[in-house]
Parts: sequence; structure tokens; C-alpha cells
Amino acid sequence: MSGTVAVVTGAARGMGRTHCVRLAEEGADVIALDLAGASDDLAQTAELVCATGRRCVTRVADVRDQDSLVSALAAGVAELGRLDVIVANAGIYADLALSWELSDEAWHRTLDINLTGVWHTVKAGRPTSAAAGPS
Ligand SMILES: NC(=O)c1ccc[n+]([C@@H]2O[C@H](COP(=O)([O-])OP(=O)(O)OC[C@H]3O[C@@H](n4cnc5c(N)ncnc54)[C@H](O)[C@@H]3O)[C@@H](O)[C@H]2O)c1
Repeated sequence: MSGTVAVVTGAARGMGRTHCVRLAEEGADVIALDLAGASDDLAQTAELVCATGRRCVTRVADVRDQDSLVSALAAGVAELGRLDVIVANAGIYADLALSWELSDEAWHRTLDINLTGVWHTVKAGRPTSAAAGPS
């Protein structure tokens, strides 16, 4: 991963934080994204990444909102210079209910974040990623 830049959504805690730290330990700089309400935890993720000697740019982005992802990624790439790896990690576990007992609201919120959010993340990151090749 040396010399690469990775973006991680849902980076403030849990698996997202773990992905950020592991990527940094392997040599990647990290663009760490999460919800506005997670900014304290996101700052802690950044501290852990920086403790490995790598750089970390944090930005607020809700994966349900394509525009917030595009601008957060643009800011991250402007600072770190490139994008090589997209980790579409942000997700929720819907209400711990049996699927047939879920409310319509919980069902749609889960699909919006866990499914559409992944599509939004790849769509926002792919045009700027090194893998996309020269434009
Ligand atoms: N932890 C596990 O063992 C495990 C196992 C299998 C699947 N999962 C799934 O993987 C996902 C992450 O798991 P976790 O344990 O790290 O969860 P977590 O709740 O600890 O972390 C999820 C992160 O995603 C962020 N997030 C939530 N909605 C968001 C949105 N709309 N936009 C941007 N960020 C958002 C949260 O703020 C949080 O930082 C979840 O969907 C979970 O159900 C987890």
C-alpha cells in the first residue's frame, strides 16, 4: 500500500476505524469520512492514523448524499494528491428486528445506507482514482 491513498467511509469507529489504521500501517495515506455527529470519533481515527506516520484527511460525508461524497473526496484528493483505494464501509444494522418486523422506514434507511451508499461511494471515487487511468 506504500505511496497509495485510500478513502474509507464510516471511518469514525468500528470496522471503518480499523480499516483506516490497518491501511496506514501498510503505508497508505487515508481520507476518512463519516457523519457530522461522529466528528470527535473521526478525529480519534485521524490521530491513530497519524501515529503510524501516515497522513489523514477527515471530512464529513453522508453516503446517502452523493454531493457530500464528491466534495469530501475532492478536498481529500486535493490535499493527498491521488486516490487508489475505495473502502465503502459505512453501514448500519437495522434495528435488530426480524426482517418481516422491520418498519418501512427502517428498511429504506438500511437500503439507502448499506446499498445505495456503496454505489454513491464508488461513483464519487472512481473518476478520481488512479485505477481510472488518464482522463
Ligand atoms: N462489526 C462486525 O463484526 C460486523 C460484521 C458483519 C457486518 N457488519 C456490518 O458492517 C458495517 C460496519 O460495522 P461496524 O461494526 O463497524 O459498525 P459501527 O456502527 O461501529 O460503525 C459504522 C460507522 O458508519 C458510520 N455511518 C453510519 N451511517 C452513515 C452514513 N449514512 N454515512 C456515512 N457514515 C455512516 C457511523 O457513523 C459509524 O462510524 C455495518 O453495516 C455492520 O452491520 C459488521
